[in-house]
Amino acid sequence: MDKHNNEFWRDIPPIANVFKPDALPEVYLQDAAIDDERYYVPFSDTVSSRPLWISPSQNSWCDILMAKGAGLVNRHYHPHQVFGYTISGKWGYLEHDWVATKGDFIYETPGEGHTLVAYEHEEPMRVFFIVKGPLIWLDENGETTGYFDVHDYIDLCRKHYNKVGLGSDMIDKLFR
Ligand SMILES: [Fe+2]
Repeated sequence: MDKHNNEFWRDIPPIANVFKPDALPEVYLQDAAIDDERYYVPFSDTVSSRPLWISPSQNSWCDILMAKGAGLVNRHYHPHQVFGYTISGKWGYLEHDWVATKGDFIYETPGEGHTLVAYEHEEPMRVFFIVKGPLIWLDENGETTGYFDVHDYIDLCRKHYNKVGLGSDMIDKLFR
């Protein structure tokens, strides 16, 4: 017996014209939260980021944020929204009571400042984030000390991918 006999949609033809004339191709990345650490760009001393999708025109990106142990992304403010989905590990913000573990979803409203921490856990922290930049770095008094936006992210990613031998072409392929 055909092992796919329950896939009732097998005879449906795909759409003939998939893309509008000015549409860009989709992005398909195998194993987004990959174990290979070369794919993770150091973002702070203890937290790194695998870029999945980068939009310079929207100042936005998607990534897997990863920490192998206790981790910190220092305090910052978001003028725009952030979505997060926890794949593994344990993490949260010093400013909130909740602690996220596998399967937990987070939405951060525009206008929030926070300090991201990864807890020690048997699994690394791996969180899928959709970030709209910039991050505004804050000092302990809440004063602005700098910013990080998609252009800083691209630069960081390109340099790291060149350094580890993956090549910055891999970053360019994520642009949409
Ligand atoms: Fe943040």
